[in-house]
Amino acid sequence: MNVLIIGSGGREHALAWKIKQSPRLTNLFIAPGNGGTKDLGTNVTLDINDATQIKQAVREHGIDLLVFGPEEPLVRGVVDKIKSDPDYSKLLIVGPSADGAQLEGSKQFAKDFMEKYGIPTGKAKVFNKQNLEEGLAFISAQKPPFVLKADGLAAGKGVLITKDPDEAKENMKDLILGEKFGAASANVLVEEFLDGIELSVFVVTDGKDYKILPEAKDYKRIGENDTGLNTGGMGAISPVIFADDKFMQKVEQKVIRPTVEGIAKEGMDYHGFIFFGLIKVGDEPYVIEYNVRMGDPETEVVIPRIKSDLIDLLEATANSTLDQVELAIDPNTATTVMMVAGGYPEKYDKGHVIDLEASLNDAIVFHAGTAFKDGKLLTNGGRVMAITGLGKDMKEALSKSYEGVSKVKWIGKNFRSDIGFDLKALGQ
Ligand code: AMP
Ligand code: GLY
Repeated sequence: MNVLIIGSGGREHALAWKIKQSPRLTNLFIAPGNGGTKDLGTNVTLDINDATQIKQAVREHGIDLLVFGPEEPLVRGVVDKIKSDPDYSKLLIVGPSADGAQLEGSKQFAKDFMEKYGIPTGKAKVFNKQNLEEGLAFISAQKPPFVLKADGLAAGKGVLITKDPDEAKENMKDLILGEKFGAASANVLVEEFLDGIELSVFVVTDGKDYKILPEAKDYKRIGENDTGLNTGGMGAISPVIFADDKFMQKVEQKVIRPTVEGIAKEGMDYHGFIFFGLIKVGDEPYVIEYNVRMGDPETEVVIPRIKSDLIDLLEATANSTLDQVELAIDPNTATTVMMVAGGYPEKYDKGHVIDLEASLNDAIVFHAGTAFKDGKLLTNGGRVMAITGLGKDMKEALSKSYEGVSKVKWIGKNFRSDIGFDLKALGQ
């Protein structure tokens, strides 16, 4: 089978790494890929939001299975454009059509969907230019902290949380009047603050059945002890001690099942991943967001724990036979530590030479922002590479991750040395 993965991050490298292990693979392509994916297959340069260019790559390379990593092409309807072309009716596609992708593309849509299907989530009200004064008054009447969310895609920066009501009101004006995220912040949700511990849960679904993938904990802040600015994610752990069987049964019954049933009832064409961003409040799961893709860096710990063939799983996702596949999960722990450019998530340099020792025996290196140019591996983004360790417990896995981290060098490299600190405090 010929496979094309769309995207260029650590997530896509991890997907490529696992697909490469399948005996069913003939040729692997990654578009646009990065400095690491080129060693697993062929990097293809194209605009990932352009259906015509993707179709051309599919035709040229005889692709059988097309897998979308990031959300943007999905929200923009790239899958719909490919599926509506009869020449591509046999192509297997992992990635929802635009109606399903609205679960990530519009927080208001997601909120309405959750309310309709009784899925636990924080209460929210939506404001825009028309009722801005009402929105400001609403903030005054609420108790802090105040959670404001841009309705549309905002590159992970669309959530603003503050305890200060005046700052919350300024944020609302910035978002709506200042068009902070353009059309994506024309509508703003003011959401109930949920006080608890976060968890990422993933499934693949073919729109009727689903398979639950390993859960993970993500570390979003740049600084130790979860301080400082938000990032795309500085590390991840799977499994997660507080996501025990009892809690995961609740997640399945109250969140996963009603979501997939809702997708079926709405008649969405959904073949792909669902990422449930959850907060555990007391013993109860609440959804803070849906994503219609895998998480990054969560994929770098989820994928190494999947023992089954990934092509089998993705094919079944695409052709609606998920009820016929078995998913085997490795009980070991996976950890990943993200190595980032100095200065990230603010201003940072690109183009530093990466010195990667050949002998990272016990760790898996997933490239994110890297590029291979003129025979050299260079930094090419804020998040540069994720180093994954697998072990019998979190301690063993982390020691492999950090040993790997110590062997990768470039000018300005930065990483968090406390990944898993909170889980350790809980006994993991
Ligand atoms: P998101 O971009 O939706 O992942 O949100 C970014 C971060 O904001 C989340 O990872 C949470 O830490 C936090 N967050 C979002 N919604 C809420 C909420 N309702 N209550 C508390 N924290 C929240
Ligand atoms: N790690 C969080 C995300 O991928 O959105």
